[in-house]
Amino acid sequence: MKPFVHEVRSTRVVFGSGTISQVRAEVERVGGNRVLLLASKRLDDVAQRVGESLGPLLAARFDGAAMHTPVEVTEHALGVLRSNSADCVVAIGGGSTTGLSKALAARTNVPQVIVPTTYSGSEVTAVLGETAEGRKTTRSAPEIRPETVVYDVDLTLSLPVDLSVTSAVNALAHAVEALYSPQSEPVTDSIALDAVARISRGLRALAADPSDVDTRADLLIGAWLAGTCLGSVGMSLHHKICHTLGGSFGLPHAETHTVVLPHVMAYNAKAVPEVMERIAGALGVPDAPAGVFDLVESVGGPTSLRQLDFPREDLPLAVELSTSRVYQNPREVTGEGVAALLSDAWHGKRPASRVPDLGWLTDEVVASFARTPDKRLRSLLTDLVRRLHSFATTNDLTQAEWQAAVDFLTGTGQISSDVRQEFVLLSDTLGLSSVVDALTNSRTPDSTSSAVLGPFYVDGPPAVESGTDLAEGVAGTPLWADIRVTDPDGAPIADAVVDVWQADDDGFYDIQLPDLDGPVLRARFRTDADGRFAFWSILPSAYPIPVDGPVGRMLQATGRHQYRAPHVHFMISAPGHHKLITQLFVAGGEYLDSDTVFGVKDDLVVDFVPTGGPTPDGRVVDGGWRRLDFTFRLGRTTGS
Ligand code: BEZ
Ligand code: FE
Repeated sequence: MKPFVHEVRSTRVVFGSGTISQVRAEVERVGGNRVLLLASKRLDDVAQRVGESLGPLLAARFDGAAMHTPVEVTEHALGVLRSNSADCVVAIGGGSTTGLSKALAARTNVPQVIVPTTYSGSEVTAVLGETAEGRKTTRSAPEIRPETVVYDVDLTLSLPVDLSVTSAVNALAHAVEALYSPQSEPVTDSIALDAVARISRGLRALAADPSDVDTRADLLIGAWLAGTCLGSVGMSLHHKICHTLGGSFGLPHAETHTVVLPHVMAYNAKAVPEVMERIAGALGVPDAPAGVFDLVESVGGPTSLRQLDFPREDLPLAVELSTSRVYQNPREVTGEGVAALLSDAWHGKRPASRVPDLGWLTDEVVASFARTPDKRLRSLLTDLVRRLHSFATTNDLTQAEWQAAVDFLTGTGQISSDVRQEFVLLSDTLGLSSVVDALTNSRTPDSTSSAVLGPFYVDGPPAVESGTDLAEGVAGTPLWADIRVTDPDGAPIADAVVDVWQADDDGFYDIQLPDLDGPVLRARFRTDADGRFAFWSILPSAYPIPVDGPVGRMLQATGRHQYRAPHVHFMISAPGHHKLITQLFVAGGEYLDSDTVFGVKDDLVVDFVPTGGPTPDGRVVDGGWRRLDFTFRLGRTTGS
């Protein structure tokens, strides 16, 4: 268990499409009367629109923001702010414009309304990075955190793809470094993982349609979430290296992040493999560092420092500057390590994946199904293969493990027969039967809940009259069951076919006992005009599922018990109604909370009431007996 501190620090966020129309209201909200509007020339159109909507509140505009927030530029802008008596800043643009706004707030405490047009994320932090005399320094203070951020997805629709990519990977870096930060905690972790998932999904979809609103919303929300992590926990080696390369060598900010991130991840992976696995899971790839590299490459982002015109001979100085001060990082930062990392980044070498990249093999198998005439079959097989391959790669499956699985399935087949359904049992004990059952039943809410069929149903049980004794002398507490079948409105369903089956007092179904002569404890009834039938049986008891096969070995290997909660099975069919396969469980019975096939549902747990005295049909029983009264509801099929 890791102790942690979580603090909520808030920036008001307005998110949507066309939200720049709300900038004026947000300015008024923070008490601004004279606005200094920061926007680069590239964003003239938007700046004009916002300027017009601000009307008399607009005091001045400054369009000179520069990358890495040089203090000279800040001084210049400060002059404009003061000479115009501005009391509020509205900044429209990327990280540089936001940086300038924060630098002004750090000096004057003016309230800020930021309208981001890239995926910087810095708009929700209290951190300011500035460059003075070629060195980048960062500081943090409450007044630096913008009061309000207005995210307008529309402004990002036309952000060029290359810029979108580098900007989004810059945001991704915030989420990644948050996840292995020493200050990481559950809230930031979940925010960061969601950011990773959104950004990678957005990036993959970007090329297909850069102006898709949902893709852009994913990227923008991802960047915002990643930014909040950046503001909550400290960053590590990646940010230090990028600040060095940007501040001291003038490399472009987002591009540098894009090149460096996979290499820092590969460096840190040795120290935090479990974090990398979570990131890989959110990215949907087998290996996080290689996955980020592949993602960047696949969307045409820069993958080497060489591409960014970083002189190779400057690498040693970059190593020295990046390692000159001690700072937090999950793995010890050594000159040698950073030199190797930067050399790989300079060459654009794909980080060695913990697992080989087998995407091509998966793609080949998937392509082999391309001509499957049945569309549903093609889609099921394609997805199954993708998931199986990904299961193997993410778990780094060994040949011995795979062979053990094949032997297990072979054994499952070998032990199966007409009366032994080991595959059904496997599906049941893995909860898969209950999942499929729920998928169907949750769509027929008018019916009584269903439950798994189980492996002991036999089609065509003996048809018997109402009142028949299914137990015929089998030992056990006598049970009288009075059952009704109705439609969802309570109207009786006459002539419904109802199969009933259950295990004996020792926990065996008849088909498990080869010496038995004919069916026992199973029968078929037809409901009367009142939707009714009744029968004698015995009170069911908990029983073990068969454990002399592979499923038993699986339960043993996992420390699970093999018991089913006591129950009676029912299968009910009536024309015009949904077929119902279900079970009734004995209230107070054993294993209701840990049924080994996950079949128990609350509304199926019913009282099997202890009773004494005369029986409903006058039959004489020794001692007490139980009584079950239950009404099954069957939803109507569409059109009837
Ligand atoms: C049964 O209740 O008959 C059953 C269901 C699933 C697995 C084994 C037995
Ligand atoms: Fe059963």
